[in-house]
Amino acid sequence: MKIPPVKGVRDILPTSFGGEAEAFQFVETTCRKLLEEFGFSEIKIPIFEYTELFAKGIGTSTDIVEKEMYTFEDRDGKKISLRPEGTAPVVRALIEHNLMETSPMPKLYYVGPMFRHERPQAGRYRQFHQIGVEVFGASSPAIDVEILSLVHLIFQRLKISGLELQINSLGDAQCRPNYRKALKNFLKEKLDQLCENCKRRINTNPLRVLDCKEEGCRRATQDAPVSLDHLCKECLAHFLEVKTGLNRLKIPFSINERLVRGLDYYIRTAFEMVSSNLGAQNAVAAGGRYDGLVETLGGPSIPGIGFALGMERVIALLDKAALSTPGTDLFIATLGPEAKAMAADAVFQLRQRGIKTETDYENSSLKSQMRRADKLGARYVMILGEDEIKKDQGTLRDMAKKDQKSLNLSGWIESLSNLFQTRKP
Ligand code: HAM
Repeated sequence: MKIPPVKGVRDILPTSFGGEAEAFQFVETTCRKLLEEFGFSEIKIPIFEYTELFAKGIGTSTDIVEKEMYTFEDRDGKKISLRPEGTAPVVRALIEHNLMETSPMPKLYYVGPMFRHERPQAGRYRQFHQIGVEVFGASSPAIDVEILSLVHLIFQRLKISGLELQINSLGDAQCRPNYRKALKNFLKEKLDQLCENCKRRINTNPLRVLDCKEEGCRRATQDAPVSLDHLCKECLAHFLEVKTGLNRLKIPFSINERLVRGLDYYIRTAFEMVSSNLGAQNAVAAGGRYDGLVETLGGPSIPGIGFALGMERVIALLDKAALSTPGTDLFIATLGPEAKAMAADAVFQLRQRGIKTETDYENSSLKSQMRRADKLGARYVMILGEDEIKKDQGTLRDMAKKDQKSLNLSGWIESLSNLFQTRKP
């Protein structure tokens, strides 16, 4: 009996098998390059952590911690969770290794799988991949603008258009309690119109009610108070500067007063890059400022800001036709054991010189070897048969031009190397 993959988890196949592995590579390479231009360095964080890290970091009343983490006891009886996100692990690493002592403003990024037990649907998986970015030690709104400009440039480089950068301010420890109170009072009046989940959230996490997808809840909260109307002087000034900075750089954005995030650590600036071409799961990247998180996780009081993009959703928007995967340079078609032995030697030497070379291993007919060469996108095919060896002349076929010429077999590897103009081994 065949064993299927876990629900919501998928294999990412190579393009040649109808998959998207090369698209993942393209997104990763493009982002890495840009991130390095922005002064970021890669951090590799563990796939699993003590559950407590996420409970404390993301918040015990969030959906992620309440019902989406893959949590288990390891053989030492310790509670472990597969990482549902990367920010809390990066903060843990920052504290663990005292990174602030080495640099006043660590700029870190990570790439890899995250795990959430959500209901699978288009654009929502239980194992998905993020490229995440975190900056520590900077409380200035100029850094918020820099991070938002990075988000903007990533999508520009990936040539993905039709996106909207939405921003909001969620206030801070000074003004959020007042806002929460105002929102709670409003929601209590609408209790009978809210779904069961939101009724419960009123006390645990009222801001999340604004993000509920249920039609009834959306209608009931149409006129709900918004955090922007409850910001303290400092948060308001911060938000104004972020907007001014974005305008100065001519980065288009809109204000979404209802934008709340599914993770509790955010304060002040929160944002999402959304697409109108993705259906319900429309955020391709999201993040914000989290100034209290390092302290919450046992470190010093250090501000932080970052975001993560969801690679699956980005790839769904990518123009895959623009991603060309280079085919094979050379296919050596052989007939007879002597030719096979010569080809094995040549394949090794040519690969040593960086030439993408393939050959036949199965004593296939010349016709089927030519078909395979064609499928591999070979630029040239070298035909080596008993006759050719006897005459010391192979046949080199240019697959695009569909013409062929003889190639002297003494020094043929040199001749082929010159053809591809590659480096010597
Ligand atoms: P998040 O909004 O939970 O934030 O996730 C960021 C992005 O990951 C989403 O916008 C989406 O593109 C993608 N994503 C999330 N869940 C799924 C899923 N189940 N399937 C496919 N894609 C998904 C965070 O994770 C924060 N740690 C971001 C951050 C970094 N904030 C500050 N620094």
